[in-house]
Amino acid sequence: MSEPRTMSEKIAIRNEQAQSLVDTLTCSFVQTLKPYESARRLYSGGQDWLNANESPFSNPFELDDSSFNRYPSCQPDTVVERYADYAGLEKEQVLVSRGADEGIECLIRAFCEPGKDNIVICPPTYGMYAISAETFNVQVTKVPLLEGFALDADSIIAQCESPKLIFVCAPNNPTGTLVEREKLIQLLDAYQNKALVVVDEAYIEFAKEQSVSDLLNSYANLVILRTLSKGFALAGLRCGFTLAAPEIIQTLLKVIAPYPIPEPVAQVAAQALSKEGIERLNQQVDYLQSQKAVLVEQIAKLPQLNLVGDLYANFILMRATQKQALMDYLVSQGTLIRDQSKQLNLDDCLRISIGNEEQNKRLMSLINQFYENVGALT
Ligand SMILES: Cc1ncc(COP(=O)(O)O)c(C=O)c1O
Repeated sequence: MSEPRTMSEKIAIRNEQAQSLVDTLTCSFVQTLKPYESARRLYSGGQDWLNANESPFSNPFELDDSSFNRYPSCQPDTVVERYADYAGLEKEQVLVSRGADEGIECLIRAFCEPGKDNIVICPPTYGMYAISAETFNVQVTKVPLLEGFALDADSIIAQCESPKLIFVCAPNNPTGTLVEREKLIQLLDAYQNKALVVVDEAYIEFAKEQSVSDLLNSYANLVILRTLSKGFALAGLRCGFTLAAPEIIQTLLKVIAPYPIPEPVAQVAAQALSKEGIERLNQQVDYLQSQKAVLVEQIAKLPQLNLVGDLYANFILMRATQKQALMDYLVSQGTLIRDQSKQLNLDDCLRISIGNEEQNKRLMSLINQFYENVGALT
């Protein structure tokens, strides 16, 4: 066989060999998976990012670089202590991780045997519970939400005999709905010695009174997920929290990466959780709540749009006439929102994250333009 001459020939051969290695070595359950399609991956342009439930605020922070030559602490004390204070818990009840997503992954890795165990999810809901489970060959049992997106606790209990984890998202993404406290208690009681009930409170800053963190002291099987990505306006930081009994936190520490929280992340998170940081959080959440009310009022005036679900988060969900054409028009004008129509019972639904006043005005004028002109012609 003659030696390849050019670099591109060498690269073509290398790629072919890599493909053949991948075909023979990849775990069978990984072969069928697809890489996660984040908003950033789907779109390169755009000025108004209203598609990932991020905050429109970009806040200033200070960094002290004097210890960047050292490995960071696995669980930075100040961050854990300040979050425990913020949540009204003991520091032993708090795990800090690379976003709430890493909390989900740690729970699955620590409690689910690959190829054997299953988790329960209640669609339509946040996609990462299923994605994370699939990457560890853990089965996913789906028990859909009822009409009005209420939790179907009775069916979960009747159908799911031995799940390891039951994921309940409250406020739920993408419906913005809550979970009735009695239903949650029903689940916690039914699975008291059998399974963990994981309540994802990623959006709790927008529905503060609705947290179930007070139940952590009475229920050993309750786990709560939190994040700095939403109300705290720090999606780029990748910092989240798992709240649970100390014994559960200790178990998660067995599987988490040795240094999940880079030192700059710990410094920024500590500032976000300071007294001033929390005051700022509250002001920004108030502002977003008032922007949400304005948007809701304007959407309600349009017969082509119908609000779906509830408003307990920093986004709204609506069913739209000419959904695809509207979505395409907004994207072509640089306003990115999220299509949720593939989710169970959400046909023709679009989700819009609440932006700042300017972004929301631009969005509404584009939507009005669409239904008056562009959409009217198609
Ligand atoms: C319900 C829910 N949980 C968790 C997350 C992920 O949070 P994090 O950015 O902390 O990984 C999101 C992000 O959109 C979410 O919607």
